[in-house]
Amino acid sequence: MLGIPYVGSGVLTTAICLDKPTTKMILEFNGVKTSPFQVFTGPDEPLNPKLRFPLILKPSHEGSSMGINIDNVVYNEAAMRRKLREMLETYRQPILIEEFIDGREFSVGLIGNYGPSEEPRVLPILEVDFTKFPKELGNVLGQKAKTIYDSSKNYICPAKIPEELRMRLEEISKKVFRILNCKDFARLDFRMDREGEIYFLEINPLPGIDYNVEADELSFYPMMFYAAGMDYDEMIRQIIEAAIRRYGIEPIAKAQEEIWSPTLPPLQDYAKAIEAHLAESLGGTFHITINSSIDYEAVRCIQLIESKAFRPELQYSFEELASRAKREDLFMVTAFLEGHPMAFTFGYRDPREQDAFYIDTVASLIEGRGVGTALITLTLLHCLQRGYKLVNLHTEEVDEKGRMLKRFYEGLGFEALQNSPIEGLLMRMRLEEPWLKALIEKTLPQPPREHPKSPSTILDNSYGNPHQIKS
Ligand SMILES: Nc1ncnc2c1ncn2[C@@H]1O[C@H](COP(=O)(O)OP(=O)(O)O)[C@@H](O)[C@H]1O
Ligand SMILES: [Mg+2]
Repeated sequence: MLGIPYVGSGVLTTAICLDKPTTKMILEFNGVKTSPFQVFTGPDEPLNPKLRFPLILKPSHEGSSMGINIDNVVYNEAAMRRKLREMLETYRQPILIEEFIDGREFSVGLIGNYGPSEEPRVLPILEVDFTKFPKELGNVLGQKAKTIYDSSKNYICPAKIPEELRMRLEEISKKVFRILNCKDFARLDFRMDREGEIYFLEINPLPGIDYNVEADELSFYPMMFYAAGMDYDEMIRQIIEAAIRRYGIEPIAKAQEEIWSPTLPPLQDYAKAIEAHLAESLGGTFHITINSSIDYEAVRCIQLIESKAFRPELQYSFEELASRAKREDLFMVTAFLEGHPMAFTFGYRDPREQDAFYIDTVASLIEGRGVGTALITLTLLHCLQRGYKLVNLHTEEVDEKGRMLKRFYEGLGFEALQNSPIEGLLMRMRLEEPWLKALIEKTLPQPPREHPKSPSTILDNSYGNPHQIKS
């Protein structure tokens, strides 16, 4: 209202989401399944005979499981009336009564926004492991479960669920986020019944963000970040970044300049130039994101498509990715065509060598169109700006595929240090390579207008299939 930008959803969204019945009505209207319900403002209002017991009673406007425990689940009308009377007295607000969905419980966190070339991203999904709670809490994540018996061990994140279910949960969550016009971040709770039907329970447009790993005090939302290999600072950074992009606030470019380099133009400017160039040649909306953390959504998307066509044994497991995500100076660039991730590369400070950066993985779904070159170039520029002297990469591929990769990287100025069937292919680039110098000189002080020159003959027939360089 004062024109001061802030993170998170606006006033209307926050107000709506604080009111569970109103939220449910809006979502039902839009085809999102929620548990059948009725709202009571007085103790004697007739109960809709269509509602099937057991029912659960909840205050309409509370959160954090306030006023919810096992005795909120009732099995007949007499018990319901008793509880209803008590809750109306205690909470002095309308009481929401809904069918109790007996089954698994999931929580889904989102980060980001709907924009011209952007969608909110879904964090690793969390499942409540009810087997870890005392029986008498009765599969309800109530006040007691959340306070007395709370421990991060009671939650499985990322949830071990089939791809199909994950995708359904993600889809519904994004839909709810959009319908309710949420901004920057949110967390949603769901229940799934025995038939596999998913029911929306509630959304928290301002989820709790307690974060104390040592004391094991983690709210669900940061727990999801943690599961994705990102810490509290990274979470805060991403939330703020989402808001900054949404507001279109300028100083971001300035801030990035400081981060990237005191002397070179911001990497984003190079990215922009490359975007413009490739958008033309690829014929579609094309954009590049630069991150200091792993874009899990992109990796997962690309690996999902890859795994159908290519060697599944080269896919990263979640654990592998999470451990890489913790590496120092992590740097990731991702390319999106028509809003879909189609290529990425990431790397980090080489743990084995001083002043060296290590390119861990390069994957692309597009063949020989210069996308891989673009991403590597941005990575090299990042390295220059960070003062690295060397860039290393290693791949186990030494057959035909390995030969193509070798040619590709040689085209970029890398040199093969070793290429053996046992040790694999080890390549390295000195960052004062003449071609790189030329590239920088050509592009300074202006960011490159043109896509940097690289031997396109090599690119056109070789680089394309995603590959993974495993260390
Ligand atoms: N319809 C329902 N069926 C089954 N369990 C429910 C239902 N509604 C709430 N619960 C249980 O109660 C907990 C708290 O309810 P929720 O609607 O998420 O409110 P809060 O704002 O307090 O988190 C849920 O996490 C879930 O375990
Ligand atoms: Mg909840």
